[in-house]
Amino acid sequence: MRGSGPLNGELHVGGAKNSALKLMAASLLAEGSTRLVNVPDITDVAIMTELLEAMGVEIQRTGHSVDINVPDEIDPIAPYSLVERMRASIVVLGPLLARIGRARVAMPGGDDFGSRPIDMHLQGLEQLGARFSHEHGDINGEADRLVGAEVFLEFPSVGATENLLMASVLAEGVTIIENAAREPEITDLANFLSEMGGRIEGVGTSRLRIEGVDKLTPITYTVIPDRVEAATYLSALAVCGGQLRLEGARVDHMEMLLRKLEEMGMILEEDDSGLQARVLGRLKAVDVSTLPYPGLATDYKPFLVAALTVSDGAGMVTENIFAGRFRYIDELVRMGAEIRAEGRHAVVRGVKRLSGAPVRAHDIRAGAALVVAGLAADGETAISNAHHVDRGYEDLAGKLSSVGAQVSRT
Ligand code: UD1
Repeated sequence: MRGSGPLNGELHVGGAKNSALKLMAASLLAEGSTRLVNVPDITDVAIMTELLEAMGVEIQRTGHSVDINVPDEIDPIAPYSLVERMRASIVVLGPLLARIGRARVAMPGGDDFGSRPIDMHLQGLEQLGARFSHEHGDINGEADRLVGAEVFLEFPSVGATENLLMASVLAEGVTIIENAAREPEITDLANFLSEMGGRIEGVGTSRLRIEGVDKLTPITYTVIPDRVEAATYLSALAVCGGQLRLEGARVDHMEMLLRKLEEMGMILEEDDSGLQARVLGRLKAVDVSTLPYPGLATDYKPFLVAALTVSDGAGMVTENIFAGRFRYIDELVRMGAEIRAEGRHAVVRGVKRLSGAPVRAHDIRAGAALVVAGLAADGETAISNAHHVDRGYEDLAGKLSSVGAQVSRT
């Protein structure tokens, strides 16, 4: 890609990756045919499809709709070959234990965010009556019918909240999840489960009360729009200038991000079915600190750092969710960014332009941040390991080039 700007036009925001993956796993809870609408065509969804198919589930995609036909008998195994490719595979654990009382799921390893334990998932499920043993790199889970309990999460973990929510909808009696994560994707999962017949109170709050039912019924459900995809386009606009309309963007899911972007000087306006954004000149640097929702999402941070590299002034960036999530900074520095990182903190001093260079993507969002940086760089930037970007974006290059960015996929 090459330095570009200004951008002009409209982009459609697709379905949320982090919701679609969990709704696919949650489909295991009901025998029969669930239809998910607005499912992005991305590699992570293909991996979840493979994982469910290996369990005996039949899946058919038509455009952005996915039909998931869950048989009575499921083979409850998530092999390392798939879990290794996508950590989020761990969310099949809760549904499998709830539905058939057995699961063998490969233990996820570390990743480019650093070490990512799943102790809270396991402890919470143990409180509902599951028993775990570790063998040859797998977690073997067993349960007779799960029984509701009061679970207090040490940290509002997204994955642990999801696994517990999916397990408890079919448990006997009442489960309370205290200090639950409140991300919009969790609300989407709770709404999905409620429409299937689950009884959940406190949706959107940090205290979820779930009254177990005997059975859930398959439904048709539309996935919420992807707030991280929307944030990627806004960051591209931040460095290129111009004007974009984001069709489908949910302003209520991105309040904190939009406040930050306004503080930087972006002009934002919500309309009937999306968001309009304008950037008239160079944006001002701001401080960025990630927190669980409704705080600023850690997934936005790589693009915000990319935007700060060419903003006016200096910004302090603090990572409070994943201590190791700063690897892409070395790549930005190769492009001429002035960044000093230490521990959880990084100070980014804006320069006028970056300088295009060959760089490497280490994960999905880091890859997208390098695309944003490439749009703010003189000359050509070539990103290797770009397959990481395809894990979470459907044709990022095509979409950005449709609004005037000089970017292509080779
Ligand atoms: C999900 C998202 C990811 C996002 C993250 C935080 C998906 C597929 N991924 O990841 O994009 O960046 O939420 O919003 O939806 N932790 C433990 N023990 C556990 C679980 C988590 O110590 O059992 C720690 C993690 O190491 C991390 C923090 O809790 O420091 C938050 O992790 P969590 O919210 O669980 O993130 P994920 O669900 O893995």
